Amino acid sequence: MSKIDELNQKLEKLNLVGYWGIPRSEAFEPKSSFEPCLWRWDDVYSVIREAGEVLGPEDSMRRFIAFRSPGKVRTTHTIAAGVQLVNPGEIARAHRHTMGAIRFVLKGGGAQTTVEGEPFSMEPGDFITTPSRTWHDHYNGSNEPIIWLDGIEAPLMGLLEVGSAEVFGAEQQSITRPVDFSRHELGAVRPSWIKQGAQQPPPYRYRWEDTEKTFRALGENSGDPYDGLLLRYVNPMTGGPTLPTFSCEIQMLRPGEATKSHRHTSTVIYHAFRGSGFTVVGPPAGGRAGDTRFDWREGDSFTVPLWRTHHHGNSSRDEAILFSMNDRPAMEALGFYREEAA
Ligand SMILES: [Fe+2]
Ligand SMILES: [Fe+2]
Repeated sequence: MSKIDELNQKLEKLNLVGYWGIPRSEAFEPKSSFEPCLWRWDDVYSVIREAGEVLGPEDSMRRFIAFRSPGKVRTTHTIAAGVQLVNPGEIARAHRHTMGAIRFVLKGGGAQTTVEGEPFSMEPGDFITTPSRTWHDHYNGSNEPIIWLDGIEAPLMGLLEVGSAEVFGAEQQSITRPVDFSRHELGAVRPSWIKQGAQQPPPYRYRWEDTEKTFRALGENSGDPYDGLLLRYVNPMTGGPTLPTFSCEIQMLRPGEATKSHRHTSTVIYHAFRGSGFTVVGPPAGGRAGDTRFDWREGDSFTVPLWRTHHHGNSSRDEAILFSMNDRPAMEALGFYREEAA
């Protein structure tokens, strides 16, 4: 045994490690261990419907199916997404957790999510937040199943080991505020006693009706060179990111529109809400593999890992709308956010 090996053994016994045992650091770029992945709506819809038939509320607190990237258990390293189905007459029991979460309604309607005593209506295209540690339960009072996209920061929470969860004492929490009260309380004309100061934003429903009107109002605006007509779901108190850890956005690609290519250290999960188009994702920095091209259609979901070049296009005759969630707020808070044209 060499003298270096003897020293290494000694260090190991002392719970120490010599840095000469670690491969010499060379120049390197940010690199995700996740590959881009696409989930087809036909497949996802088929299995969530099946889950709606074979699982009752007693089998699981939430009838949720997550997107899992190949070789991984999560959608991405920081944020995860998936679909949830609530059958007519069902209640998804009240609980709360450290993880912040969002819902984007895909199919069905006439249901409601109650957050901290306030019921929020759920219609297709509506976007509802349940920030960290807010009590939430869902009830489908309509006569058809409702399906929505769920987004959560579970992987980041797992890494930070700060997760916690509690189950409410009853199936549903009491209603203490009128339906959609926050729409008025947090409007452009608001009560004087509403103060910003909390780390978490208030729960909020961003109605599809309003989002659609904003798209229409923007008309032929040239928009963002990398994302087309991109709208952000901002914290209604501060105008900042949707949640402290992740942010949600929705963008319209008009017929024939193609965006410029860029890359950033944030990771994005997309969902094609309307229409069809394509997204081209470049190989990892220094990688030899070619581009990954996703020709997405309505209902498909896909990921763009960090620091991979990407651009979007719509070669159809109809407008295409992509909903997305990204971990940019977490990267910015840590000072790790970088973005560049590519
Ligand atoms: Fe939850
Ligand atoms: Fe991007």
